[in-house]
Amino acid sequence: MDKQSIVEQFAEESHPDVLQQFDRASLEELVAKHETPFMVLDLEEVDYQYKSLQAALPGVKLFYALKSLSHPELIKRLKTLGCNFDLATIGEVELVESLGITGDQCIHTHPIKKDKEIKRALEFGNKRFVVDNIEEMKKFYKYAGQVELIIRVSFRSKQAVVDLSRKFGCTLEELPVLVDMAQSNGIDVVGLSFHVGSQSISPVTQVNAIRSSIAAMKVMNNVKWKFLDIGGSFPVSYQEEVMPIADFCVPVMEALAELPEGIEIFAEPGRFISAPSMIEVVSIVGKAKRGARTWYYLDDGVYGGFSGQMFDHAKYPIAPLKPVDPMGEFYPSVLAGPTCDSIDVVAEDIELPEMEVGDILIGKQMGAYTLASATEFNYYPKPKVVVVEDIFDPETQAL
Ligand SMILES: Cc1ncc(COP(=O)(O)O)c(C=O)c1O
Repeated sequence: MDKQSIVEQFAEESHPDVLQQFDRASLEELVAKHETPFMVLDLEEVDYQYKSLQAALPGVKLFYALKSLSHPELIKRLKTLGCNFDLATIGEVELVESLGITGDQCIHTHPIKKDKEIKRALEFGNKRFVVDNIEEMKKFYKYAGQVELIIRVSFRSKQAVVDLSRKFGCTLEELPVLVDMAQSNGIDVVGLSFHVGSQSISPVTQVNAIRSSIAAMKVMNNVKWKFLDIGGSFPVSYQEEVMPIADFCVPVMEALAELPEGIEIFAEPGRFISAPSMIEVVSIVGKAKRGARTWYYLDDGVYGGFSGQMFDHAKYPIAPLKPVDPMGEFYPSVLAGPTCDSIDVVAEDIELPEMEVGDILIGKQMGAYTLASATEFNYYPKPKVVVVEDIFDPETQAL
C-alpha cells in the first residue's frame, strides 16, 4: 500500500472526537467516581497515536518502547493493533510474555546486559539483541548461531531534550571492529540502530543518522544487512508546540528511501504513543499565601506522577478543571507536591485565578516517563490508573 492510501485509510478510521476527549463534563464524571490523585489512560488515544505514527512512517515496523509506560492495558491494545515491542529488561520480557506476546514480535535493545538477561530473552524466543561495545560483543560468543545482533551507533543531538547517544552507541569508526569480532566468532550481525535522543525537536539529526548508517552499510558489504532501526525520538507537544508528526517524518521517509532494497526498517517509539494517552487528575489539598505568591499544595507531585519533570525534563501543561474566565483576575501562584521535600514543586511561575482547597487540576500529556519513574517517597502511593475505552462510556474501569 502506498503512503497516500495509508494516510487516507487512517483519516477515515480516525475518531473525530478523539482530540477533544478530555472535555470538562467527562472529567467531572470521573472525578465524581475516583479519589484523586489518579491518571486516566485513554486507549482510543493509544490507537490514534499509533495509527498517526504508522501513517507518517509507512512500511516501518514499529516496536513500542515499554520503558515509557508499561501499563498492561496499553500493551494489550498495541498488540491488537499489530504493534511490536522494544524490551530492555527481564521484567519487561516477563510482562509481555504474560500478555501473550511472542519473542519474534520483540527486539531487545539494551546495549548493556547481564548474561542472565540474555538467557531469559532467548528463552522467551527473542533473538535480536543490540550491542555497542567490545565487552558486550564477547558476551554473545557462546550464543553464536542463536542470536542476530544489531549494532547501535551514536549520533549526538543538540535538538533532543534527552541526549541518549551520550551514554550509548559506538562511533562509526568502531563499527567495523565490532562487525569483525562478530563474524570471526560465527555471530550474525544483521542490522544497525541508533537513537538520536528523546523528544527530538527537529528531524535533522535522525535524517543525518539514517544517511550515515546507509553509507556505512554500503561500505561494509561483507555483511548481509537485514534491518535498520531508527530508534525513538518522535516528539509530542508539552507546553511548547512541536512539529506535527506527518511533517516531522517527511524528511525521515525521504532519507529512508535511499536504503538498498530488502532492508527492513524498524522504529522504537515510546513517548509519541504513550505521552498523549494519559492525563493526571489532582486536587488542591492546602493553600498558603507566602510573600507575593499563593502556594497551592497538590495531592501528587514530582515524586509521583510528575516525576518526569525531574527525570525527563518535561513541563506538562496543567490547568484547573473549573471553568476559568480569561478576562478575570489571575495571581502569581506556585503548585507544589505533597511531600516534605522543597524540591517537590510542579510549577513555580504560573498565573492562576483564585483557587480553593478541593479544586481539581488536570495535567496533560502525562503518559510517558511519568508513572514509569514515580516513587512512593513519604509513603505516598503512586497515583492509580483509570483505564477508559471511551471517556464518554459510563463503564470506566479502575485498575
Ligand atoms: C533504546 C531505546 N529505544 C526507544 C526509546 C524510546 O524513545 P522515545 O520515547 O523517544 O520514543 C528509548 C528511550 O529511552 C530507548 O532508550
